[in-house]
Amino acid sequence: MKILLINSSSRQQASSTYFLAQALLKRVSMLTPVSVTEENVTVLPQVDSEYSISVASTEQDYDESKGSLALSNRLIDDLIEADLVIVTSPMHNFSLPSGLKSWVDHVVRAQKTFAITPTGKRGLLDDKPVYVLISSGGKFSGNDAYQPDFFTPYMKEVLSTIGINSVSFFAIESTVSSHDVIENNIKLIRQKLLAHLEENFIKTKLL
Ligand SMILES: Cc1cc2nc3c(=O)[nH]c(=O)nc-3n(C[C@H](O)[C@H](O)[C@H](O)COP(=O)(O)O)c2cc1C
Repeated sequence: MKILLINSSSRQQASSTYFLAQALLKRVSMLTPVSVTEENVTVLPQVDSEYSISVASTEQDYDESKGSLALSNRLIDDLIEADLVIVTSPMHNFSLPSGLKSWVDHVVRAQKTFAITPTGKRGLLDDKPVYVLISSGGKFSGNDAYQPDFFTPYMKEVLSTIGINSVSFFAIESTVSSHDVIENNIKLIRQKLLAHLEENFIKTKLL
């Protein structure tokens, strides 16, 4: 099984969500051989002018061997080839960190991953399971949420635009709490995550 791991945390392997991703990877690899492609999107550049011109043009003769177009092609190929995608990310200012937004800009690309039709945008990729693992300093879900959440609705919408609708979100919230509270929180989310993997994908779709 090919797994694409999009790591959006500035803390990379030390991040709370990377720990969750490792639990997922371990579980899946107990059942089937996996190959993991890991992308550190915190170092992705923003899309360049060639890219911006090409997506706004109807002409097809762009040199796609350089700059953002080449990078975009590589990131899209990795996404297409993956059987399972894991995104690890902190919440930044109620939304995506800039590196993850840059990945979105590279892979959500007119004529490549979505078509523009008279009735709206139509996804061109096959659906696949995506786990989005979020970490936030405060609470953004449930009755005791005290801040807006533009992260989850945005990710849902933008992945749906390219045809990916099997997206599941798991969040470690309140990471500003005491060590014990965070540990307990991570343990609970890890259990929920593995139960979800078991019920929804391992038995039915992936193996
Ligand atoms: C630039 C920046 C913006 C942040 N914005 C938010 C926010 O809007 N809401 C929130 O709950 N936490 C926010 N945080 C806190 C992080 O989401 C939190 O520390 C998270 O647990 C980091 O995860 P990781 O380092 O384990 O990947 C922000 C942190 C940074 C650095």
